[in-house]
Amino acid sequence: MRDLRVSITDRCNFRCLYCLPETEEAANFYQTRFHPPSANASVPIQYGWKSRSEILTYEEILRVVRVAAGLGIEKVRITGGEPLLRRRVDTLVAGLSAIPGVRDLAMTTNGFRFAGVAQSLRGAGLHRVSFSLDSLDPGNFRRMTGRAGLQEVLDGIRLAQDLGFSPVKVNAVVIRGLNDQELESLAGFARERQLSFRFIEFMPLDSSRAWQRDLVVPGREILERLRQRFELVPVEARGNPSETAKRWAFADGRGEIGIIAPVTEPFCGHCNRLRLTADGKLRTCLFSLGEHDLRPMLRGTASDDDLASALVEIVRHKEAGHRIGQPDFVQPARTMSCIGG
Ligand code: GTP
Ligand code: 5AD
Ligand code: SF4
Repeated sequence: MRDLRVSITDRCNFRCLYCLPETEEAANFYQTRFHPPSANASVPIQYGWKSRSEILTYEEILRVVRVAAGLGIEKVRITGGEPLLRRRVDTLVAGLSAIPGVRDLAMTTNGFRFAGVAQSLRGAGLHRVSFSLDSLDPGNFRRMTGRAGLQEVLDGIRLAQDLGFSPVKVNAVVIRGLNDQELESLAGFARERQLSFRFIEFMPLDSSRAWQRDLVVPGREILERLRQRFELVPVEARGNPSETAKRWAFADGRGEIGIIAPVTEPFCGHCNRLRLTADGKLRTCLFSLGEHDLRPMLRGTASDDDLASALVEIVRHKEAGHRIGQPDFVQPARTMSCIGG
């Protein structure tokens, strides 16, 4: 285990259909092909956000990371919900970047608030940022994210590049009938702007549990479509077997695309990731059905050695992989908005 992903809030200012849909109508977008929307379709869905006292403080997060780094964690990614909804994330970044052993410090954000804090995050020691961007069409962007924020996100991506965050990665979740018509234009954007643009298969981690297999556009199909439009050359994984994306460079440009296909081509065998939720639960898989609550240890009398022993024991029981597509698959109670991707 080398990669720890830390969710610092379960809240978000976006309402992506595949994660935290705002209304029944949005949640059931997929099914409206088969059923008309119900009468209360536009009533906002109520989410049970965690209260402030349940959420780990920055000091508590830093302690977990310090202990984990002592055990071999090298990469730390700050996620959410939307991490930039928390105040003074730059102070957390500064604390994390000072931990011996943390050699790679990154963040995943929807980008809406990024421009306002980019400079301070950079100054505090953040190395890399991954943005989420599912559409370049303002109307479709709004439909997918529930917010009219395309320009803010584009500005954030531009600023991240200008400030020297490198590489700047951009993630799109591809959903059949929703944004698959934009595959070529999103790839064209990567080429034009020299971005690392990753297409992700839709996974059953949405709060509305509307995931269906036929909404997944298989990675292979994405690649075939893009190869018809662009000349792509494979990029070697460069010694990181745990990388999630298969990467392709443009033969005539400097950007690249990546295909992340956890549903049709699982990569669990090489997984080196652990996840800490905002309320202090350690998850050994995105699809774990059980969690390990570290908060009682952090708020009790446990020593760092006790915490380290607990982490080792938890990792020993990491599952072999996800079971999407198997008859016994059960979608975890927690959604991507709590786990952080
Ligand atoms: P780096 O590799 O550090 O650059 O991280 P990143 O967050 O930019 O990309 P990563 O490839 O780790 O994650 C991008 C997306 O891939 C996530 O948001 C998830 O949708 C998916 N993903 C990442 N890790 C896993 C995993 O362990 N299992 C599955 N099934 N999907 C994953
Ligand atoms: N399937 C695949 N990826 C998802 N993400 C969020 N929900 C899902 C899902 N159901 C991705 C977003 C974001 C990252 C944090 O997780 O694209 O980039
Ligand atoms: Fe790792 Fe679980 Fe993702 Fe598989 S599904 S790669 S085991 S986190």
